[in-house]
Amino acid sequence: MTAEGADRATVVDPYDHLHDESYADAFARGRVGAASLVTVAGRAVESLDGDWRFAIDPHDEGLRQTWYADEPVPASEWTVPRDYDDGAWQTAPVPACWNMRRPEWRHYEGGAWYTRTLDHTPGEADERTVLHVGAAAYEARVFLNGQFLGAHRGASTPFCVELTGHLRPGPNRLQIQVDNARRTDRVPMRHTDWFNYGGLYRSVALLRLPALFIRDFGVALVPGSGFRRVAVDVTLSDPVDGTATVAIDGLLPPSPVPITAGRGRVEFDLAPELWSPDSPRLYGVTLRFGADSVADRVGFREIAVAGERILLNRRDITLRGVSVHEDDLLLGKTSDEADIRRRYADAKALGCNFLRLAHYPHDPRAVAIADEVGLMLWSEIPVYWAIDFANPDTYEDAANQLAELIARDRNRASTILWGVGNENADTDARLSFMARLAALARQLDPTRLVTAACLIDRERFAIADRLADHLDVIGLNEYFGWYEPSFDGLRRLLANSAPGKPVIISEFGADAVAGLRGGPRDLFTEDCQEAVYREQLAILATAPYVRGMTPWVLYDFRTERRQTAFQRGWNRKGLIAEDKTTRKRAFAVLAAHYRAMADAEAPPSPHTQTAKSR
Ligand code: GCU
Repeated sequence: MTAEGADRATVVDPYDHLHDESYADAFARGRVGAASLVTVAGRAVESLDGDWRFAIDPHDEGLRQTWYADEPVPASEWTVPRDYDDGAWQTAPVPACWNMRRPEWRHYEGGAWYTRTLDHTPGEADERTVLHVGAAAYEARVFLNGQFLGAHRGASTPFCVELTGHLRPGPNRLQIQVDNARRTDRVPMRHTDWFNYGGLYRSVALLRLPALFIRDFGVALVPGSGFRRVAVDVTLSDPVDGTATVAIDGLLPPSPVPITAGRGRVEFDLAPELWSPDSPRLYGVTLRFGADSVADRVGFREIAVAGERILLNRRDITLRGVSVHEDDLLLGKTSDEADIRRRYADAKALGCNFLRLAHYPHDPRAVAIADEVGLMLWSEIPVYWAIDFANPDTYEDAANQLAELIARDRNRASTILWGVGNENADTDARLSFMARLAALARQLDPTRLVTAACLIDRERFAIADRLADHLDVIGLNEYFGWYEPSFDGLRRLLANSAPGKPVIISEFGADAVAGLRGGPRDLFTEDCQEAVYREQLAILATAPYVRGMTPWVLYDFRTERRQTAFQRGWNRKGLIAEDKTTRKRAFAVLAAHYRAMADAEAPPSPHTQTAKSR
């Protein structure tokens, strides 16, 4: 207490918040991540999708002035002026990107507030309630009835915040503050070649759970077991002992999985029909523990490498792929089932058995539908270009996004590769950062392969990235014929390289404005893009260690950084225009090439060479 009277700290200065630039620190302490995730497989959920009240908040006044703390009251009852009124805000639908809702929000980057009333009817006395957010681009902070309950970083993976004990009977005020500002310490950082969408762009739901519930589970072939053993693992919400049961339709009757301290794992002698693109066989799986049960449809397959070969179920395969972004003329980064099924129909029309879901985790339905229609996937986290590799907090962000992706998709047969980055300059800090991510992927999931889209080693002019020692499959992006007009470099690169492990050409291509015609060297014409594909495909066919490719890219997509007369905010390397209907001439070239590849592939024969199973 100071001699002059009240302690300074007790004086409420209504202008204090104007001078506080550390306001965000309080919300970093409540971060949730992969450890808080709850599986939604087969669960009945209470959807919170629909119109929420919405306001942009470019200066973070809501965090500075704690908008979330005050119940909304009509302006007629205000005793002091306010800078906000969530009872009178505009509305925005969930799931959606705010950019697609109003012209004035098209390029908005910064904080924004979603608010809705959550009418709650309490269940059993020991019921637990968990908020599940499919994705929020980029950082989200959750408030319930004025209380901060948790925050999350990462624009493309789900997260959960437990509401138990905070929900009251009747109306509750749920607020999610979402911030899509581009920053150098984020993953991705502030410079990318895709549009920076923002918002709650995947579904939001309330989970009602028993006191003890199944947080995570895995059902997969045991690598190297000759397809005759299936491992089932279960993780509970709490470290208790007990017994779960698992059943696999047509394969395994309800069978016990003993649980100790909240975890259990059992291997069963089973011989499932194997999943493959030609035969995407899925089995219904049900797990129960106490009053909780979850369900999924799982395919059984083994992916491995042997020398410079990639083996699916011990058979040598080539990956006929294409890269694809999550981007839609009307939906932005939000996907719906129709958009996903069109994407895969176009890929199949190309003759694909594989897709690279660039450059971040796609909608979980995109992965589940790939299981169903028979497409293999490369899924990746957005460790893209110049990440702040020396920043430990940035590593934690990337590692958590990887852990959330793996937790979300670990039971998806279609996912065969985890990608830990794209086109990152080869520095010591980057090597350490991404080697750790590769090790983390293997530790979390020993059943899949690890890759990254690497750059050419320009000194040796070879495929020789130091990160390759930590990868099972080397991805390589190269643009000979486009950014480097001569194809001689590609011939030289392939002749100089002896990678000793499988290579996927993870990007090549050229921009083309649909309908623009000209000569083979007239940039941005369909004829130029066609010529690049013809030459690339002919040269790449000469490299035996190239075991797959995902040319860049299936559809034209939005990117703010390209403003020439040909592009006007779009990347035009699509084989199909942004209308997702107009095919360009190069589409037929790639389709013919893949058809010839598929025809030439001898009927699969069991692979004799000992496979280095993941
Ligand atoms: C890079 C990058 C892509 C980008 C592409 C292009 O390879 O990985 O994200 O869109 O080049 O230049 O079109």
